[in-house]
Order: sequence, then structure tokens, then C-alpha cells
Amino acid sequence: MNIAIDGPAGAGKSTVAQRVAASLQFVYVDTGAMYRALAWAVIHNSVDVLDQKAVSALLQNAQIELKRMQDGQHVFWNGEDITHHIRTQEVSNYASVVASYPDVRNRMLTLQREMAHQGNVVMDGRDIGTHVLPDARVKIFLTASIEERARRRYGDLIAKGETPDLELLQKEIAERDQRDKERKSAPLRKAEDAVLLDTTSMSLDEVVINILALCR
Ligand code: DC
Repeated sequence: MNIAIDGPAGAGKSTVAQRVAASLQFVYVDTGAMYRALAWAVIHNSVDVLDQKAVSALLQNAQIELKRMQDGQHVFWNGEDITHHIRTQEVSNYASVVASYPDVRNRMLTLQREMAHQGNVVMDGRDIGTHVLPDARVKIFLTASIEERARRRYGDLIAKGETPDLELLQKEIAERDQRDKERKSAPLRKAEDAVLLDTTSMSLDEVVINILALCR
């Protein structure tokens, strides 16, 4: 049984998906981390992010691995653990650009299907219920108001010791939402058979309990 959790940035997908996976003893797969890894590599290798061919070539020749470690999931690019470099605003913005390239999405689709091949995965992303795992047994579309999503991101960054600007964060989230929804290749969209959960005024526990009930 596979579980697909999709939704826009800051809806709480990764925290919720990790908790659901831990409760069911399923494997958690964070597909956003894969696009972020590519974005990090684009920056790290000084590749022009607008050069689609160069970006896809970088991905074709690379190995991306997700490994479960004691403190959560880690992402490796060609064997290098880059987990702690992929959550910056710069990487977030580049990730939504590289995620709009069809060749990049095709390659990621293959990698993600391989990861889900053995079943019992909870996969989160933007196109899991619609494209990557259209046969997932449980599909969830998590959302929340843009103000609430920006506030959550702000809280995360403050906790990390950063000094974010709430208004700018909201603007960047809105831009990413628009890019993710309007791209031609596998845009962010609720699958017809997905259950919509608006988490604006729900606690994390409530969301997790709801999803576990659906799974059971
Ligand atoms: O969920 P996240 O913020 O870590 O995702 C980073 C970017 O990758 C985001 O702009 C959307 C994109 N993405 C995607 O297009 N498809 C996925 N399955 C997962 C993420």
C-alpha cells in the first residue's frame, strides 16, 4: 500500500508524512528534497539555471539517494550528504525553477517510482497522486491559507536562528505556488480521488490522526 501526500509549500506535508510513515512503519520519501538536491547542485556547479539542457544533463549523470538516519531523512548527491544545505531560500527558489523542466520531471518520475516499487511508502510532493503514484491507495491534498503557510515557514527559520522577513516570505511562497501550479509538466493539482485537508486551523496531531484514520 502506498500513500501520496501532495500540496503547496508550507502546508506541513513533510512533518505530517514523516509522522504517518513512522506510525505505520512505512518508508518516507520526500520528493521535494530531490528537486532541492538538483537545485543545490546547479548552484554548487555554477550551472545556468535557465539552461534546461545543462540542468537535465547534470541530473542524468548524478546519483540522488534518500537515506533514513536517526535524525530523519538525509539526501545525498553523488554520495555527498547535502541535507543541511537544501533548505535555504535560494535553493527553494531554484528548486521550483528546475522542477518546471519536463526532462527533469521525467527522470525524477523514474527514480521516484523505483523508490516506491516495493510498496509501503508515504511519498510527499506536488504530483504524487496525479502522476508518480496514480494508483496510491490513499491520496491526501494538504493545504492551508498563504498567510498561515508563510507564518509557519517564518517560525521554522526563526527556530534555525535566521532573521526572515515575513512579507518577503509570503511573496516568495506565492511566486513558487504560481510556478508550481502553472507549469505545463505535472503541475501542482489535487488528484480527483484525493481527500482535501485544509490545515489552516488544525493542529499537527489532528492532521496526522485524520490521515491515519483514512489509511485504516
Ligand atoms: O516540497 P518542497 O518545498 O521541498 O519542494 C521543493 C520544490 O520542488 C517546489 O518548488 C516544488 C517542487 N516539487 C515538485 O515540483 N514536485 C514534487 N513532487 C516535489 C516538489
